[in-house]
Formats: sequence, structure tokens, C-alpha cells
Amino acid sequence: MTSGVASAPLSQVETPLLAVALAQGSAVPASLADLDRASGAVVARAITSGDFKGKRDETTLLYPSGAKPERVLLVGLGKPGEVSRNTIRRAAAVAAKRARALGVNQLAFAVAPEARNGVSARDVGQAAVEGAAQGAWAFTDLKASPDEPKPEVERVTLVCEQQEMKEVTAGQRVGDAIAAGHRLTRHLQMLPGNVCTPSYLAERAKQLADQYGFTLTVLDRAKLEQEGMGALLAVAQGSDQEPRFIVLEHRGGGGAPPVALIGKGVTFDSGGISIKPAQNMEDMKFDMSGAAAVLGTFETVGLLQPKVNVLGVIPSTENLPSGHAVKPGDVVKSHFGKTIEIINTDAEGRLILCDALSYVRRFKPAAVIDIATLTGAVVVALGQVAIGEMGNDEALLAEVREAGERAGERCWPLPLWDEYRDLLKSDIADVKNSGGRGAGSIAGGWFLREFVEGYPWVHLDIAGTAYTDAEGPHQAKGPTAVGVRLFTEFILKRAGA
Ligand code: BES
Ligand code: MN
Ligand code: ZN
Repeated sequence: MTSGVASAPLSQVETPLLAVALAQGSAVPASLADLDRASGAVVARAITSGDFKGKRDETTLLYPSGAKPERVLLVGLGKPGEVSRNTIRRAAAVAAKRARALGVNQLAFAVAPEARNGVSARDVGQAAVEGAAQGAWAFTDLKASPDEPKPEVERVTLVCEQQEMKEVTAGQRVGDAIAAGHRLTRHLQMLPGNVCTPSYLAERAKQLADQYGFTLTVLDRAKLEQEGMGALLAVAQGSDQEPRFIVLEHRGGGGAPPVALIGKGVTFDSGGISIKPAQNMEDMKFDMSGAAAVLGTFETVGLLQPKVNVLGVIPSTENLPSGHAVKPGDVVKSHFGKTIEIINTDAEGRLILCDALSYVRRFKPAAVIDIATLTGAVVVALGQVAIGEMGNDEALLAEVREAGERAGERCWPLPLWDEYRDLLKSDIADVKNSGGRGAGSIAGGWFLREFVEGYPWVHLDIAGTAYTDAEGPHQAKGPTAVGVRLFTEFILKRAGA
């Protein structure tokens, strides 16, 4: 989907669908007077009748007679005092999803100025494009014969006032880049395990490196052995698919230390010998969502070229049972040097991440953020709403949390207190990879912390937020690309943009 910005009276916008976002209220905003007058007062009737109240996600479709737009979609932003870039993004997503359902290939989108609640023109531009791309997204690549062929929503045009064109356009540019990253991430997430293998992820990383000039390093099984990545190799040894360790470098910040983003890239997690139940096991193709978020962020970074050094690190493997798979009770030596007793082969994410956390020390990173579908326990704790956030540095934790607020990808902290460390005490090795039943997400976080040395670090557990099985008004069921917006906000802030 492409995007653009235009300035025109709403009644004059030639489009199959003009979506207008409004806050809750019983009066027609002055900014809609022209559209209402030109369209036979259908807008006023929808609002004053109370049929359209402006509640969050609410929509009313109108067919104006006389105005240029063929259809007008009123979209609710919710309570006037609660309008934010997040509600605007969501309204744009609702509008675009509706556009797709209607079968129109483009839409125009405007936010009634009265409803903005102080959100800047730039943020409106960015959030609207992010949302529209999110709502318009659909995955049909693997259907030989689509049930209901629908045209793509190819374009969104943001309609604003003339004096705000420049600011809206600045935001729209950022939104466009984030939308591209989002698309790549969701696409990779959606691909099944037989297509999206570790070497496939490495291929996509190579395409990004070629396109945007990133430095790329890919380690194969032999190189991983030389490097001593015993924990990653232990997970990989049960699979016929070769593991890959992928490192992308964006050099925008001269000699400054980089921000490192580490994404869990388990392209399918069966659990290994500690095999998972069959029910919903197919969802474990999404276990590379962290890796996909890192690659998507690099698409965005490639487009925006922020003046900061960014490192993307992806340990990638399948987790399968077989005659040569790692077994419960096995002890392996990690890259860091600590030995690990593998109690549960299904706690594989932490095993591949710990070698990556150890590897990045050589870059002397300014900050390290790992992102992983790590624990079912985080779904129990926070549901599908918040990312579980842990780390070793309060300032970085707050910085990541604030980026998440701006991005509409909210993080909620879980404590890594010393008392929890005992969960991972092993009788035979330095540490074991799984604790008891309690505090599962914290145990995962603490395991990772055992391999963090010399840098501020945050761990994001996205097991609850990476994908959803509920179709929403703003997005299709399936992958969410969580992380891309948060990382981009984080990076742009660090770049001073
Ligand atoms: N990939 C899973 C976590 C997961 C669960 C992601 C549900 C998305 C939805 C992870 O590798 C895993 O299996 N974790 C175990 C850890 C346990 C064995 C300590 C879990 O959460 O049960
Ligand atoms: Mn697992
Ligand atoms: Zn997993």
C-alpha cells in the first residue's frame, strides 16, 4: 500500500471511500459542515439521530448524494479526552479494514480537527498511515484459488488542512516506512514452517542487506561450532534444517556503540522431546515472531536511515524431536561458558537467546533489547494486551516502555528480583533451563540474565501479543508484527529524530 497527503474540502475529495474519524459527541463538528451540506445532510442525520455515537471502533457507512466521495465512513475515536495517536491509528485501521471488505482499492482518511485532542499533525500523519496499512493487510499468497477474491487496498490518502500539509507529510513518511516493516514482519510470521526455515530467514536478511547496504554476517552449523554456541546447537541438533545465526548491521551513527535488537527465530517449536500437545501446535510457526520483528525493523531502518548504529541479531533453528535431538537431563556448554542442564527441551527460546546475548558483548552495545515468544506464562499473566518486560537497567526499561506507549505496543514490567534466581539452580550444571510451575515468565527472564554481562538489557516476552486468533475490527486474525513500531520509536528517539 502506498500513501499520500492531500488538502481539499472533504466534499471535493474524489474517492470511492472517505473515512472521517470523529470523537464521541452529539453535534456535527464544524469541520464537517461543508461535507454535510454537499451530501444532503446525511452526516448530520447519522450523528443527531444518535445512530453514530463516535464510540471506539464504531462505524457508520453513508452514501452521500452530491458530494464527490462515493461513500463516507464515519469512524469513532471514543471519548474526546481519550483521543491519542493510538486511537487515531486504530480508527485508520478500522477504516482500511472496512475498505478491504467493501472491495475498494483505495481510501481517503481524515481526522476531524475538533477531535484531535492535542495530537500533533505529524503524529496524525504517522499514526494514520500505520493504522491504514495494518487494517488493509491480508495474506492470500498461499491460496491457489482465493474463496472471495478482493482487490488490495492499494492507497490511502490523508486529507488535511493546507497549513498542516508539511507536518502531516513528515509523519506520513515515517508511517510509510513503519508500514513497510510491518508488512514484512507479518508476512514472515504468517509463512508456515516448511517455507520459513532458518535459511529462509537468512535469505531475507540478505535481501535487506543488499537493498539497504547493511553489513550481513550469517553463521551456519560449522561456524556455530567454531564459535562455541553449544546452547543454540543443542536445540538445532534434532532437526534436519540447518540453523542460522544472522547479524545485520546498520551504520548510521559513526563510531558510537550500537543498539542491539535480538529476535528469537524458532521457525517451528514442537517442544522437541518434551513435545507439545497437538492442539494448536500449528501456531508454533509463529515462534519466530521476534526474529520477524527485527527483520521488519531493519526494513524500516533501511527506508529511514536514522543516524544511529543498529545491530539486528537472529539465532534461528527449528525445535524438533528425533533420534539425535537433545534430551531432558542433557548438559550443554553455552557460548558464555556456563553449563546448562536442559530440564525441558520446550524451553528452547532461552537456549538460543543466551548464546546471542553472549555473542553481542563483542560489539560493546549501548543497549540490548531481546524480543521473543518466550513463555506461555506471559499469556496467563498479561493476556494479549501487554508485552512482558524485564531487564537489568531501570533507565532502559523506562525508555523501552515509553517507546511502547508511543507505538501503541504497551509493555508491563515483571520483577527480576534476586529471590527468583533460585528457580534455576541446577544440581549438576551452572544453571537449568526451566524452573517449577510458578513465575514462568520471570524464570525465563532470569535465565537470560545469567548470560548478560556489561550492557544495559531489556527482555520483551511477546508470546501473548505476537499473534491473535480473534478477528478484530482493526486487524485480521493472525500475526500482529508487534515490536516493529516499538523498536522504530525507540531508534528514532535515540537518533534524535
Ligand atoms: N514458544 C513457546 C512459548 C509460547 C507459548 C509462545 C504459547 C506462544 C504461545 C516456548 O518455547 C515454550 O514452549 N515455553 C515453555 C517454557 C517452559 C517449558 C518452561 C512454556 O511456556 O510452556
Ligand atoms: Mn518451546
Ligand atoms: Zn518456543
